[in-house]
Amino acid sequence: MTDANASKRAAAFAAADLVPDGATIGFGTGSTFAFVLERFAQRMQQGFRVRGVATSVQTAEHAKRLGIPVLALDEVDGLDLAIDGADEVDPKKCLIKGGGGAHLRDRLVAVAARALLVLVGEGKL
Ligand code: A5P
Repeated sequence: MTDANASKRAAAFAAADLVPDGATIGFGTGSTFAFVLERFAQRMQQGFRVRGVATSVQTAEHAKRLGIPVLALDEVDGLDLAIDGADEVDPKKCLIKGGGGAHLRDRLVAVAARALLVLVGEGKL
């Protein structure tokens, strides 16, 4: 694994471990968020429950393959938290999101969530 991927994975696993049992989460898009799903699947083997609304078809399909429930935005009464990867972050923590083609759904899911947790691997600075 490259250093950039290792930092994405470390951030993603730390974020996934913050999610409480039974939470409804906004599922981001991209290689960083894919590590969050991987960690959720590991935790589910110990009885952890999570479900989410996906920001892309790719994420929805990945989650379903791992046995993680995926809902439509209009099926939930808000989201406890949204988690997603960054495109770019500057020294003032200004953020660019949506460059991976999930621009609209990124924003709809973020607005529905009580908080947005953005994962920043070292290659995004
Ligand atoms: C989706 O539209 C994008 O904003 C991605 O979430 C972002 O680029 C992160 O992608 P990676 O995790 O693949 O770097």
